[in-house]
Amino acid sequence: MSRLVAQLKGIIADRSARIGVVGLGYVGLPLAVEFAQAGFRVTGIDLDRKKVEGLKAGKSHVEDTPDEVVAPLIKKRALRVQHHYRSCDRFDAILICVPTPLRKTKDPDISYIVSAIEEIARDVRRGQLIILESTTYPGTTEEVLRPRLEASGLRAGKDIFLAFSPERVDPGNRGFVTRNTPKVVGGTTADCTDVAVHLYRQAIEHVHPVSSTHTAEMVKLLENTFRAVNIALVNELALMCERLGLDVWEVIDGASTKPFGFMPFYPGPGIGGHCIPLDPHYLSWKMKTLNYSARFIELASDINGMMPSVVVRKAGQLLNDVRKSVNGSRVLVLGAAYKRDIGDTRESPALDIMRMLDEQRARLAFHDPFHAQLRLEGGKVYKRTPLTAANLERTDLVLLVTDHSEYDYDMIVRHSRLILDTRNATRNVKTGRSRIHRL
Ligand SMILES: NC(=O)c1ccc[n+]([C@@H]2O[C@H](COP(=O)([O-])OP(=O)(O)OC[C@H]3O[C@@H](n4cnc5c(N)ncnc54)[C@H](O)[C@@H]3O)[C@@H](O)[C@H]2O)c1
Repeated sequence: MSRLVAQLKGIIADRSARIGVVGLGYVGLPLAVEFAQAGFRVTGIDLDRKKVEGLKAGKSHVEDTPDEVVAPLIKKRALRVQHHYRSCDRFDAILICVPTPLRKTKDPDISYIVSAIEEIARDVRRGQLIILESTTYPGTTEEVLRPRLEASGLRAGKDIFLAFSPERVDPGNRGFVTRNTPKVVGGTTADCTDVAVHLYRQAIEHVHPVSSTHTAEMVKLLENTFRAVNIALVNELALMCERLGLDVWEVIDGASTKPFGFMPFYPGPGIGGHCIPLDPHYLSWKMKTLNYSARFIELASDINGMMPSVVVRKAGQLLNDVRKSVNGSRVLVLGAAYKRDIGDTRESPALDIMRMLDEQRARLAFHDPFHAQLRLEGGKVYKRTPLTAANLERTDLVLLVTDHSEYDYDMIVRHSRLILDTRNATRNVKTGRSRIHRL
């Protein structure tokens, strides 16, 4: 072990190492909190001044990381926050958690990573550990981060340490949080992996080293492609069951009794969030540069992407059956977030569904416990409709898009005339089942 590795591991072990976390969103904030709670002095950097000011006042913008957790850390200065990159050389380890969206063409947009690493590279010094956590295509750490850092004359694996460790946070999951979700780590060299693993072991229960940054990048893409493909498969199965006159939910329940070789996935109105709809395209894009077409990814994207229009078509059919047109019907969308019990509406199918119903001139209303109002693409703003018996009774179709657990499904069914339940959230409701239709 080189002297530099031993030194860095030493200050990590005795907690005198200072940690910088770049990007304080769904991923970065819980991570910064975890290290601060493990006894490190952590500084979070985010260019969004509003988020930084909020955090300074002890207010969290991430639901899973409540004010009661953030405020005491800010107060005792275990966690500091800033909206600039000044003096990054004071950090011994820097973890990068900035967004990795797609361009309109579905090509990766790594501009946030590039901008963050250019800021960090300006001040890089010997002995620093830099880890990328943002989801990205295999090769990003070596091809994008490494040359920018090494332009300083410092060598990765010798003077500085570089690694990739994918973030696996699952917003809304109470069982698995940052601390007890195993962490995969791959470094540029064995020493890079060694120090990065050592850092994570201070705050995370299980750390799994892999042989390279490329492997670690690919691990994340396998995980999310696996989800995207299986969700697409079951969405297509729902379409097949519809044509066969079968209940897809009953079919999945039946298959789930098999104790081996089957894992249930469930159909729905489409996929959303910052991960599943986007990440597989990072891999698909990379493969295109190697003249290889990632067929499963493209097919899954097509099927998952058409589910909002399947829902709108079904809504139109249900209204038609009661001699109503979408045009002029009152439709109440329940749930705007892309999944249960969180507020995140990024890429949420609810937004697509509402936009299409709006285009067809439905008299739209929405309710989501996490949002007092909702802005659709194009700027139209909807205020939340209170979820009351009277409002349900005057609605032609209740469209259940997100199965938040705080919804009282018995009450919803009791007072609704017609329901399209895209999540099978009303499965345990005993009375009024004739009003419920499912995907
Ligand atoms: N949200 C999830 O559930 C999840 C799960 C696993 C992995 N990821 C991945 O983690 C990464 C971050 O995702 P997120 O959901 O936390 O995003 P986010 O949008 O919630 O947070 C990113 C933060 O980075 C800040 N930021 C943007 N550019 C910056 C810059 N140049 N310097 C400093 N701060 C900057 C933004 O203001 C924002 O607060 C992405 O690559 C995502 O794919 C997300």
